[in-house]
Amino acid sequence: MQQISDITPLRELRRTWQIEGKTIAFVPTMGNLHEGHLHLVKQAKQHADVVVVSIFVNPLQFGPDEDLDEYPRTLENDKSSLASLGVDLLFTPKAEDIYSRGLEQQTFVEVPGLSYMICGASRPGHFRGVATIVCKLFNMVQPNMAFFGEKDFQQLQVIKAMVTDLSMNLQIHGVPTVRDPDGFALSSRNQYLTKENRVIAPTLYQCLQDMVENIQLGRRDFSVLVSQAKERLVNSGFKMDYIEIRSVDTLLSPGHEDSELVILAAAFLGKTRLIDNIQVNLKS
Ligand code: PAF
Repeated sequence: MQQISDITPLRELRRTWQIEGKTIAFVPTMGNLHEGHLHLVKQAKQHADVVVVSIFVNPLQFGPDEDLDEYPRTLENDKSSLASLGVDLLFTPKAEDIYSRGLEQQTFVEVPGLSYMICGASRPGHFRGVATIVCKLFNMVQPNMAFFGEKDFQQLQVIKAMVTDLSMNLQIHGVPTVRDPDGFALSSRNQYLTKENRVIAPTLYQCLQDMVENIQLGRRDFSVLVSQAKERLVNSGFKMDYIEIRSVDTLLSPGHEDSELVILAAAFLGKTRLIDNIQVNLKS
């Protein structure tokens, strides 16, 4: 596996691959890789001739009170995991090259609407930071396709909308969430949890599953289902941010015509903010 940190050699390699007629799959990450990321890489390998993974902890998507400085950096471990999966190129750009004119002066990409609701309401500016870095990385790597986890469902929808709105020439693949055997969704932030909180953590997904089961049994009193789930989570030791039942495509509250829904939740255990989601089809 090659590792490149500068944009010029990346572009040269990209040109060589293009001349050779190779298709390129891209998996952008912030490092501290777990099985969820590795699953994205495996999917990418199945779809393209060449796989590029980036590791860049993007300051633009962290709020002032968030964990940018503490965010785990585990480059050596990440490199050996990626190399063992047969990744062709690891791109590790430097912040001073990515934001060469400074964060304050940076041109940004913002997907209105989708970026302001749910997680975006709790984390103002977060999705602007995500859309901007993903757009920049797409411009650098110029992949034919890119892979993102469904765990960050709103992020996935923001990126799909950006690609459509800006007529970007690549396919976006959403990949199902990888879970521990008890259902808890894998995330880089899980390692912040205490042992006691790790025991409580799977309740988040259990609540979402119970909501799906109730909806499939015919319940349509969504606000009651949401209140009950919130009460259960608070009683289990979570501090709630939100639980929302939304339409999959628009992430707006579902109308009568919407049959594909997603239930999204965010809640704190101690200082760790956990998110998860589950899809439900009213017709199935
Ligand atoms: O999901 C992530 O790890 C990040 O938000 C991403 C897409 C790599 C952008 O920094």
